[in-house]
Amino acid sequence: MNKIHLLNEHLINKIAAGEVIERPASVVKELIDNALDAGASRITIDFAQGGIEIIEVEDNGHGIGAQDIPPAFMRHATSKITSESDLLNIGTMGFRGEALPSIASVSRLELYSCPPEQTGMYACYEGGVLKTLEPASCPPGTRIRVSDLFFNTPARRKFLKSPVSEGNHIHELVSRYALARPEVSFTLKNSRKTFFKTPGNGSVRDAAVAIYGSQFVKTLLDISYQGDSFSLAGMISPPETTRNNRRSQLLFVNNRPVRSSLLYRAIDMAYQGLLLSREYPIVILNLSVPREMVDVNVHPQKWEVRFADEKQVFSSLRQLIVDRLSTHDRSALAGVHPSHYPPIVRLSAYEKVDYETGELLLHETLTPSSVYTEPVPADQTVSSPEAPIPIKVMGQLLQSYILVETEEGLWIIDQHAAQERILFNRIRDQYLQSDPGSELLFPISVDISVLQADLLEREKQRLEQIGFGYDRAGPSSVLLRRVPNQIKGREIDVLTDLIDLLETGDYQDFREEAMISMACHQAIKAGDYMSSLEMQALVTDLLNQDQYQHCPHGRPTLMKIGQNDLERIFKRA
Ligand SMILES: Nc1ncnc2c1ncn2[C@@H]1O[C@H](COP(=O)(O)OP(=O)(O)OP(=O)(O)O)[C@@H](O)[C@H]1O
Ligand SMILES: [Mg+2]
Repeated sequence: MNKIHLLNEHLINKIAAGEVIERPASVVKELIDNALDAGASRITIDFAQGGIEIIEVEDNGHGIGAQDIPPAFMRHATSKITSESDLLNIGTMGFRGEALPSIASVSRLELYSCPPEQTGMYACYEGGVLKTLEPASCPPGTRIRVSDLFFNTPARRKFLKSPVSEGNHIHELVSRYALARPEVSFTLKNSRKTFFKTPGNGSVRDAAVAIYGSQFVKTLLDISYQGDSFSLAGMISPPETTRNNRRSQLLFVNNRPVRSSLLYRAIDMAYQGLLLSREYPIVILNLSVPREMVDVNVHPQKWEVRFADEKQVFSSLRQLIVDRLSTHDRSALAGVHPSHYPPIVRLSAYEKVDYETGELLLHETLTPSSVYTEPVPADQTVSSPEAPIPIKVMGQLLQSYILVETEEGLWIIDQHAAQERILFNRIRDQYLQSDPGSELLFPISVDISVLQADLLEREKQRLEQIGFGYDRAGPSSVLLRRVPNQIKGREIDVLTDLIDLLETGDYQDFREEAMISMACHQAIKAGDYMSSLEMQALVTDLLNQDQYQHCPHGRPTLMKIGQNDLERIFKRA
């Protein structure tokens, strides 16, 4: 057996880098953390080839003095904490003294730094070895350029994804930071092309507009709360605006971007009953808790935190969101008497709606489906070839379920799932037959992120096959000229879903997913009132569909409680 010996410093740094630096975005994260700790009010990030080739981060912070440069690249050398007790009270993003030596050991790193009123310095490291250290003229602050990431760790380099995918990670990361620290102006560039620049004026909403475009922010509700041991600030979406995954749930604890299953669960609980199982609200929230009540030292890349009082954080967050949503509900319904609720004919599904006022544009003719308009006498029973059982609608439960009496017993029908199935089948049939899109009389300008506008440009052909037609109208906007026939009024919602699908690659059959999205956005929601005529018509239509027992997502549309079940429940049998 070999003798035990201490590893040399280069090897130790390389091993540590394995934990801290997983991919280009990890380098960006560490460099941004350092810039923030240096008190920067302006941070610019530029990268090429997904950050594998080049990452450059420039800040206007306090810089590193000439004599501090070599120690900054030594492991466990930090200016941020000095004693064990500091670990319980961390107010900076960094504290380990690991990042710079780790990055330098797996790349070629150049640094220009100049503290105010001092001479600037240039340093160059290759694979962790100092090659040059000399005075240089540079503006106050620090600029670090990392090239050829993992050039000397080929195994790690092999595991990197494509430059586009690594670039997306960087985009997502910098977006999070820009939202976590709205008082700092962040500029993100890809090979000098600007993706976004946040104003740095302290407003989360303004930062979000700069990053994602105004479309994204439009419907979001501001939320804030100031307490002694817990504060909260940010934006949440009303239940009508949702996404299909958690990508738009951005959480920060004491301005540090985090992922936290505890907080995700609190959000889910707050929206419980308002959303379907695959729907996620948009959430941009910064929680502030006293430093000693949160441990940020539980994950090598600091993505996780642990709260001293998990229960309190959980219930406070949940309750604050519940309260905010309930005031939104009330303001939405203020002054509307129940008898003034609009009829449930889903005009938006067949008509063009003005996005600003919510009013119908009357230049298009209304062709509502027979489902909702053909009068069916309320007490008339209906039958269908699929289920040749006479049925009778008894009423609506929780404004979400239709109760139907049949000879078999009781059927409980999920109104949203049922209509989703009907609309999906209709859309599918139309796609099989004809041209899926039609020209808009008034093209709609859609303000999105530069990254998304690039994506739409690349995927133009695929979206044309679905019925969307558009042109790039600016760096971060497209002009929608043509939309699928079946989704008038919900174009933007469907397009947003499709962008998300393309961004995540989370689909097997893109066209099928697109049709599901169209059906889902048009279908009546849980919580919407339906008249008995409408329920009759919906049930009749449902029973005439193929696969009527499941919605296109695969969830059941109806549940049967037979006489036998009732007799068992009441112990009559
Ligand atoms: N952009 C910067 N501006 C000013 N000083 C910096 C900058 N980047 C690094 N430093 C100095 O270099 C030191 C080492 O940085 P490094 O990121 O390696 O460690 P850290 O930030 O202290 O801890 P961590 O490993 O948790 O990030 C810092 O403590 C800081 O003093
Ligand atoms: Mg650091």
